[in-house]
Amino acid sequence: MLIASHVSKHYETARGPVPILEDMSLEVARGDSVAIMGPSGCGKSTLLYMLGALERPSAGTVTLDGRNPYELNDADQSAFRNQHIGFVFQDHLLLPQLSALDNVLAPTLVSRTAEAAADRLKRARGLLDAVGLASRIDHRPGELSGGERQRVAIARALILQPSVLLCDEPTGNLDRGSADAVAELLVSLQQDRLIILVVVTHSPVLAARFGRRYELTNRVLAPA
Ligand SMILES: Nc1ncnc2c1ncn2[C@@H]1O[C@H](COP(=O)(O)OP(=O)(O)OP(=O)(O)O)[C@@H](O)[C@H]1O
Ligand SMILES: [Mg+2]
Repeated sequence: MLIASHVSKHYETARGPVPILEDMSLEVARGDSVAIMGPSGCGKSTLLYMLGALERPSAGTVTLDGRNPYELNDADQSAFRNQHIGFVFQDHLLLPQLSALDNVLAPTLVSRTAEAAADRLKRARGLLDAVGLASRIDHRPGELSGGERQRVAIARALILQPSVLLCDEPTGNLDRGSADAVAELLVSLQQDRLIILVVVTHSPVLAARFGRRYELTNRVLAPA
């Protein structure tokens, strides 16, 4: 269970604090999917970072199965992220010089598990197959379409078998057909693996595919 409890967030800047979220609570159980919508700049990415152990809340707590990553030291917090959280960033952040396969494998280079290279490779190929890219594993990001790059980013987020998948606008730059394919893929991966899925999106069509929908406006999260 992923629980955000009474979370508030402001960013400190030279011109004073910028308030983003006030007293937000959210619970997502294993096998649940949640969509978060809201206007640009309202704090959706910030919220996702806080859920993903990437940005410390100013107040309140975030816990995954009772563990609060913000109570850990830096090294343990990164290990926590590695072990439990898959993140698809708003700009996918694939490494341009690596093939699709090596991009998917990249997180395994920093993971602490002593898994055999052959097993990782098998899983990376299996994930690229699951996202429909078996025939593109040697392509670099520059040799892939926008939708294909998003699908590589999703495969990469799943390589360490996280229990939580957080996706920031996974279909933001895609045409309708590719967006539908990515949405379909997210839902089926989530159901097959019983993961916790939280997706930020501007698209009501995409949001409709997930179990629950929320709108973030005026610093509060409300059911949509
Ligand atoms: N490190 C930071 N320091 C100060 N302000 C920040 C910082 N990061 C983000 N902000 C501000 O916080 C607000 C929320 O940003 P965030 O990226 O969470 O928005 P968003 O809802 O994801 O927007 P978009 O839909 O455009 O991606 C924005 O107004 C942004 O300018
Ligand atoms: Mg954002």
